[in-house]
Amino acid sequence: MTGSSVWQQILDHSHRADPYPLYTELRKTPVRQVEDGSYVVSTYPEIVALLHDPRLSSDLRHLPEMGTVSGEGPGLPPSFIRLDPPEHDRIRRLLTWDFGPPHRPGRVDGMLPDMRVIVTGLIDDLVGKTRVDIVDEFAYPFPVTVICRLLDVPREDEPRFQALSDALIQVADPTTGSITERDRQRNKAMANLGQYFGGLLDARADQPAGDDLLSGLLRASGGDEPMTRAQVLANAALLLVAGHETTVNLITNGMLTLLRHPEVLDRLRRGEEPDLAARVVEELLRYEPPVHLLPETRNTLDDIEIAGVTIPAGSRVTLVLAAGSRDPALTPDPDRFDPDRAHNEHLGFGGGVHYCFGAPLARPETRIALTELAQRLRNPRLVADPPPYRANPGLRGPRHLFVDIDAVD
Ligand code: HEM
Repeated sequence: MTGSSVWQQILDHSHRADPYPLYTELRKTPVRQVEDGSYVVSTYPEIVALLHDPRLSSDLRHLPEMGTVSGEGPGLPPSFIRLDPPEHDRIRRLLTWDFGPPHRPGRVDGMLPDMRVIVTGLIDDLVGKTRVDIVDEFAYPFPVTVICRLLDVPREDEPRFQALSDALIQVADPTTGSITERDRQRNKAMANLGQYFGGLLDARADQPAGDDLLSGLLRASGGDEPMTRAQVLANAALLLVAGHETTVNLITNGMLTLLRHPEVLDRLRRGEEPDLAARVVEELLRYEPPVHLLPETRNTLDDIEIAGVTIPAGSRVTLVLAAGSRDPALTPDPDRFDPDRAHNEHLGFGGGVHYCFGAPLARPETRIALTELAQRLRNPRLVADPPPYRANPGLRGPRHLFVDIDAVD
């Protein structure tokens, strides 16, 4: 494989249903420069080293070609996924303070009973059908409803907010145009979302200080200087988007993988192993994760020497997390789906200071979703294998997952 065609191959839709043979090829050269001058890293030890290296920045403003980017759009500062320490850490601490700190029950724990009710309701709606689309009828509405409740987005606003968040997902797709053009679009969509949240905050200004997340974020401190209003809006928009399509894809990839491994689906349906669902979710994050690449955020603040290559200061770096999670140096027999592995390390939630903030929410969501689907859909069969995939190679998942069933129990 020549360096000059690697990026094109990653973008090429023909690899979407099964990108893993391409990743095996990529791992033969752990760090390589590709046709647009950026670097692609695809082996586990090198990805982990870079995720923990303070010389690799998530702040796009360091890149000369991104010189016009000020933040998340007019009036909005960067959300914390696009900041480096120490500012990143301060904002993350403030969010953790309100979202689900370890020392007191947080919002996520409070959501567990609601999650079950939402899942039961969505599956009840399938009664009477013999063919269902797991994506549109289940995997999409479930996490969207959960994150809307967490952020106190009124139910009737969901369609509007869904359109805004769809626009953001679209511009995160590196197959859809130049990085600078997509960043402009992204800023526009983030600004719209920020404006939407601003409206919600204004509507609450006349009410007594509420327990809702947005008002909580304005007050939260835990010893840190509270966020400004603009920071609250930018980070609320981030939570909404980050907690959305990722979980949709993990649930859908999960159901697809279970249908391809009926013996595991059957064990889940029988419900005799209390920790099986948790092990299935962890193995899915390794074997069929939603986030395959971190393509456009990371850039080098200094020369970094790694795996015999010097990545010069000012370079863009793509970390192929999904290739790292299937690195045979990390996991024996990595291309086998095996929820019974004794050791399961993966990069499904990233690593280092930007390790997924929503992992404590995404894990129970996916556990509850897959368990209920396994237990209530009678005799589910895949209609098409592979199913049709979305274009995005970075945030990868089926566009539809049609399943025939005998009944809903
Ligand atoms: C960061 C994956 C669900 C919020 C990340 C990163 C990954 C990831 C790989 C690292 C990004 C980077 O290093 O640049 C996933 C997956 C999910 C999921 C696979 C579902 C299965 C969620 C949910 C939320 C969320 C439900 C919100 C409620 C975030 C935030 C960050 C993040 C805010 C940035 C953290 C930081 O910069 O410190 N996620 N995520 N994620 N995720 Fe998730």
